[in-house]
Amino acid sequence: MSALAGCSTLDGVTPESEPELASPRSPPSEPADTTARLRATAGTVQPSEDAAIETWLYNDEFPGPELRLTEGEVVEVELTNDLRDETTIHWHGVPLSNGMDGVPNVTQDPIESGGSFAYKFRAEPAGTFFYHSHVGLQLDRGLLGPLVIEEAEPHIEYDREYTVVLDDYLDGEPQPLSDTDSNGGMGGGMGGGPGGMGGMMDDRRPDYAGLLVNGRLPENPPSFAVQEGERVRFRFVNASSATAFEVRVAGHPLTVTHADGRPVEPVTADSFVFGSGERYDAIVDAENPGTWELRAAALDGNEPPAIAVLAYEGETEQSPTAPSSPGQQLSYSDLRALSPLEGIDGEPDRTFDLTLSASRESTEWLIDGQAYPNADPFTIREGDHVRIRLENHSPVLHPMHLHGHFFQAGDAVKDTVLVPGHMGEVTFDFVADNPGSWLFHCHNLYHLEAGMARVMEYVE
Ligand code: C2O
Ligand code: CU
Repeated sequence: MSALAGCSTLDGVTPESEPELASPRSPPSEPADTTARLRATAGTVQPSEDAAIETWLYNDEFPGPELRLTEGEVVEVELTNDLRDETTIHWHGVPLSNGMDGVPNVTQDPIESGGSFAYKFRAEPAGTFFYHSHVGLQLDRGLLGPLVIEEAEPHIEYDREYTVVLDDYLDGEPQPLSDTDSNGGMGGGMGGGPGGMGGMMDDRRPDYAGLLVNGRLPENPPSFAVQEGERVRFRFVNASSATAFEVRVAGHPLTVTHADGRPVEPVTADSFVFGSGERYDAIVDAENPGTWELRAAALDGNEPPAIAVLAYEGETEQSPTAPSSPGQQLSYSDLRALSPLEGIDGEPDRTFDLTLSASRESTEWLIDGQAYPNADPFTIREGDHVRIRLENHSPVLHPMHLHGHFFQAGDAVKDTVLVPGHMGEVTFDFVADNPGSWLFHCHNLYHLEAGMARVMEYVE
């Protein structure tokens, strides 16, 4: 066999001719209805009186400024990179055109220090989203912010709303978990997974300095004012890098109305759990005057819960009442999308059966035995009904996120789904309706950095 320049071939195997990549959609061509500027820069965050660190931020705010858009409008966001490293922004959950998706070396060249990039997309569908850097471990500094696309006609009524950004707070520079080992470093008290990762590494998350609501530690909680009789909409965003939260509001049930931005039949629960990258909107009926804790506890960490205060106007009580009994927790099977995906009835055109696991030889995290970027892309074609089956061979949770598409898991339409540890399984379906190369990955940033990602590639 003759040498094929630039091609590696296995002995005696002739490479099939490379399938051609399908061309992605173009961003909207009309002028933007709204423009915004974000500047990624070094700055200080002060989550409580006696905690302040130098980190990286958007527009000197933490979390970054809320971008609030109207369904259907065209927005252009100019990102200026004043960091010393390269960066990008990913618009988590928004099914925009591939070139605007912000994944370095997959959908764009990273923006160099001193450079800028204009992201342009149509704000659709309506929902609660967020934006964040997609380079390295930058999300675990402070390069994140909420993105709200308001619906023209909400299916629920409410009197006021608050955005609740939950995060884990690292008071130093993020380090890949592979750089630390079970003998020290950031591992802290977490140790290996209960299933025995063999003391190889701390496989889940750094030891955080605390948990935050809207950038604040529990000793400095934000306060959400309400009036008796109001219906209050909360937009909960899990913008953390490695924390699944259990969320409750003392004295009040939550009526969940949206999952990952998509409307669901309103369903009432006392609490919900969500992983990095997931969002829930919930209505709280302010029918129980007092001063109450909104509390978000890490499922998997030792930090004190993140706290906000639900404060009825006119109440003078000093310290908020904590939630009492655990009550009933929302489960995925309670979620019924108001607009289920079309085109996923019947047998899929392609099914991917994938394991999620830790490497036995290294500190890598694997999807079906491979660690990104040394991993094969998954190829799909426009129009395909695609099914993904995930089986978690590790003891820890993996919040799996697909870029550029919503998918349907059971009756819920989502873009990020928690796969439970110890052989937990999740199956979801989607329609390949947005050509391009899209990342599919664990939204635990440390797992992503350690290889837990693949590219879904549209071919002709
Ligand atoms: Cu928020 Cu690649 O994701
Ligand atoms: Cu993971």
